[in-house]
Amino acid sequence: MQRIYVHPLPVRIWHWINALGFIALIVTGVQIRYAGLIGLMSFRTAVTLHNWIGLVLIGNFFVWFFFYLFSDKIKVYHPELSPMKHFRASFRQLQFYGYGIFKGDPNPHHISAYHKFNAMQSMTYQIIMLLLVPLQICTGILLWDVRRFSGMVELLGGVRVVDTVHVLIFIFFTAFIFIHPYLASLGHTPTAHFKAMFTGYEDAEDDPGRT
Ligand code: HEM
Repeated sequence: MQRIYVHPLPVRIWHWINALGFIALIVTGVQIRYAGLIGLMSFRTAVTLHNWIGLVLIGNFFVWFFFYLFSDKIKVYHPELSPMKHFRASFRQLQFYGYGIFKGDPNPHHISAYHKFNAMQSMTYQIIMLLLVPLQICTGILLWDVRRFSGMVELLGGVRVVDTVHVLIFIFFTAFIFIHPYLASLGHTPTAHFKAMFTGYEDAEDDPGRT
């Protein structure tokens, strides 16, 4: 059985801190948003926790960002530069998730050290890490001290606009936290990809394709 090292240590550390932090941000975020409806903790505690965890995750984001920026592993995020080929591969993957997987078809994606993501994953993760997370960080910082950043807030259309963007991305991430582990459980065993995110290694021979 061939074991391929796919998740370097900084990515694994970033990922699990990020996952725990996101869950805590969602819980405290729900408490802040629905203060009158839920009583998990006081409003003040929820705000304080939300701010501190958010701050930790901003630092953690840069672990991921700088690791990929200064390592050749960045290739895992753009192995295919032809948009047409990328689109076709994404479509094949979508067909597999929506239909083929239920008939026992093999996964069209084949893993290797510099090709750990299927086309759908590499696109989704890039949108999340390079667009949605930075947007959430920026709107979060503005909402953290609306008075201090009032100039920028007004420039963007006011608190309502900034808050709406923050909440819409929050809704996306709440859905993502369920869909992402489901897709990650579609390896050659349900726990294979989870184990790999702890050990760094994927089994390639038993798992020629992956999610
Ligand atoms: C319950 C929480 C979570 C679990 C169980 C989980 C599980 C996993 C697993 C098993 C992988 C590696 C295999 C694969 O990509 O299919 C992975 C990768 C990834 N996850 Fe998560 N995840 C969680 C939360 C999150 C959250 C909140 C984010 C939001 C940004 C996230 C973003 C990513 C990214 C970007 C990768 C690829 C990492 C890289 O190699 O660059 N995950 N996750």
